[in-house]
Amino acid sequence: MRSLIDISDFTRTEIDDMMKVAADIIENPAKYSEKCKGKKIATLFFEPSTRTRLSFEAAMYELGGNVLSVPGEALSSAAKGESIADTVRVISSYADIIAMRSPKEGAAFVAAMNANVPIINAGDGGHCHPTQTLADLFTIYREKGGFDDLTVGFCGDLKYGRTVHSLITALSRYKNVKIVLISPEELKLPNYMKIGVMEKTGMRYKETGDLEKALPELDILYMTRIQQERFEDRAEYERLKDAYILTEEKMKAAKKDACVLHPLPRVNEISVKVDADPRACYFKQVENGKYMRMALILKLLKEAENPVKENLFAGKEIIEGATGCENPRCVSRTEQELKKLFKVVDKEADVCRCVYCEKRKRF
Ligand code: NCD
Repeated sequence: MRSLIDISDFTRTEIDDMMKVAADIIENPAKYSEKCKGKKIATLFFEPSTRTRLSFEAAMYELGGNVLSVPGEALSSAAKGESIADTVRVISSYADIIAMRSPKEGAAFVAAMNANVPIINAGDGGHCHPTQTLADLFTIYREKGGFDDLTVGFCGDLKYGRTVHSLITALSRYKNVKIVLISPEELKLPNYMKIGVMEKTGMRYKETGDLEKALPELDILYMTRIQQERFEDRAEYERLKDAYILTEEKMKAAKKDACVLHPLPRVNEISVKVDADPRACYFKQVENGKYMRMALILKLLKEAENPVKENLFAGKEIIEGATGCENPRCVSRTEQELKKLFKVVDKEADVCRCVYCEKRKRF
């Protein structure tokens, strides 16, 4: 069964095709208004969300389908200790497709291992958030006409910002994209992204703490919120929370045709005065997200009509560890009887990555 767990589950061509469908939906909404008649999406959100959940729900309604919604972990059986595997097995018999968000990294992967319907990862802890990436890509495409040769700056919480991880992964497949990573020392992009994605694909990047200096060279500035909920140390959050604030004044140094993105919610990292600047594209990004989610639902439901048994471990050398993943937020730390599986990334150095959350482990 085809699911969307990580943005690299889809090829570039597939993403291009989805952008074409999304553009067609914008032009001809009536053509799509009954495409999902009789179908149901379950939205399982075990973490706060406004736009992502409502965007999936609006997307399904605009396709003529219906929505089943669990309002949050506190009100679901997960609060009674039910495993993700059992939850999705049960929901597979009510819904045709499931969009889920969990604070546990690798949760959507475990869901896909167990569900009988397509799973859409709507965010798994600080790991990834591929449908936000679909919104981001479609916005960049509509504003810039393509992705090759762009200089893209990511600013803020690059450590825990899952939308950053997924968008960099997606951009690594285009030609000559240059990345500028702007963050405080404590919130730098994790090594699994730098080594495992950027260096592996030969993507050019540099790291800096200085937004003002970086601004003039950026075609895209992707601002992010400092992810308060992922900090183990509250004092550290308080110290870093106002690290970057984009203001009208700072925007004077940006390119005339730059494009400012933000996955939202904004806390205070972009002054509201910037909203009136034509280069501020974050509200357009929200709308684009709904159209891309419509295209995604259509694609996954179509593929589910002729399901192929998907091997989630295809092309990877998998080993079972005697000890488990060390990431405290990994789904394998809490999920019942889940095998401790790792993919081998460097046999000589004995370096592996957890198949669920991708954190490195040395045996
Ligand atoms: C993002 C998320 O949930 O990771 N929001 C979203 O999906 N629109 C970004 C964030 O919460 O900061």
